[in-house]
Amino acid sequence: MAKLASLPVRPTQVGPYVIEDLLGRGTHAVVYRGVHEALARPSAVKVLAPAIAADADFVQRFHHEAHLAARLVHQNIVTVFDTGVTDGLHWLGMELVDGTVVEDLVRAHGKFDVGSSLRIVRDVAKALHHGASRGILHRDVKASNVLLCRVTGESKLADFGLATEVQPRGTRNDDGSEIGIGLGTPKYVSPESALGRPDVDVRSDIYSLGILLFELLTGVVPLRGNNKGETVLRHLRENVPLPGTLVPSLLPDIDAVVAHMTARPPKYRYPDAVALVADLELLISGQPPRRALAIAKEMARRKSARMQAPGRRRATDR
Ligand SMILES: Nc1ncnc2c1ncn2[C@@H]1O[C@H](COP(=O)(O)OP(=O)(O)OP(=O)(O)O)[C@@H](O)[C@H]1O
Ligand SMILES: [Mg+2]
Repeated sequence: MAKLASLPVRPTQVGPYVIEDLLGRGTHAVVYRGVHEALARPSAVKVLAPAIAADADFVQRFHHEAHLAARLVHQNIVTVFDTGVTDGLHWLGMELVDGTVVEDLVRAHGKFDVGSSLRIVRDVAKALHHGASRGILHRDVKASNVLLCRVTGESKLADFGLATEVQPRGTRNDDGSEIGIGLGTPKYVSPESALGRPDVDVRSDIYSLGILLFELLTGVVPLRGNNKGETVLRHLRENVPLPGTLVPSLLPDIDAVVAHMTARPPKYRYPDAVALVADLELLISGQPPRRALAIAKEMARRKSARMQAPGRRRATDR
């Protein structure tokens, strides 16, 4: 497991916030429960770890991305309030979510039931749509960035645009270039993001969300390697397995949605989060996911055409 961030001493005040308790720690930052003193508003305060704060590029991106994320106001997105630097501590104030991180729930209880899995992923897809419609990608969709609200049962996506850099050094593509310099977390990284392609779009977030859906339905993340580099390579080279292969009780309709979300070439994925939400709503209401099934049928048709004309396939594949 990655080393978690820490601060030498727990701060008592960070910018406008009075710090109360520790909420959690990530690899780059420590998150506290605090109160905005002037507004008396309970908040979550993220403080960058000193080792990370020494990286000027990271710090610049942290503040820049916080400004972008602060534009997003949506019920399925953790709202960013403000950001700043006080006594050398780089901080970000955000909405305090009364709930649990989905990653902790999977760790404690294993897989979710199908209905809950679909509702969580539907909520995150709505959040992605809101961001994408304002030109902001998430770039780090994963179980530890989704919070399930205790009272409403809704999910909220945290850390919009606050992507972390992946650098499994020494792992190279066939052409010798280094892989994994894109943004995201290896377990959830889309192939195009792993390659560091500059033109990634919301379909990359949809891929990561497909990995999360697989994880919720089965209790495990697919395509794990022995280290970060190996995991990234598997996302580049292998298809995501169908969750039904691990949990046979899952309907083929669900497999079709996961397959469509996680197709390796982005052009075979849902084109946007709206199309994904539509299929998820259908599944939630017990109906077949129209788009995923149509794509699955088309793929099967192409595969059978290729099987019937192997000679032609070699010629056209070049
Ligand atoms: N807005 C929030 N409200 C309540 N708790 C939060 C909030 N944001 C973060 N947390 C808690 O803080 C923990 C650490 O969050 P953080 O974003 O720093 O790390 P992470 O997403 O787990 O991983 P990474 O290492 O990639 O940053 C979360 O797991 C969660 O328990
Ligand atoms: Mg996070």
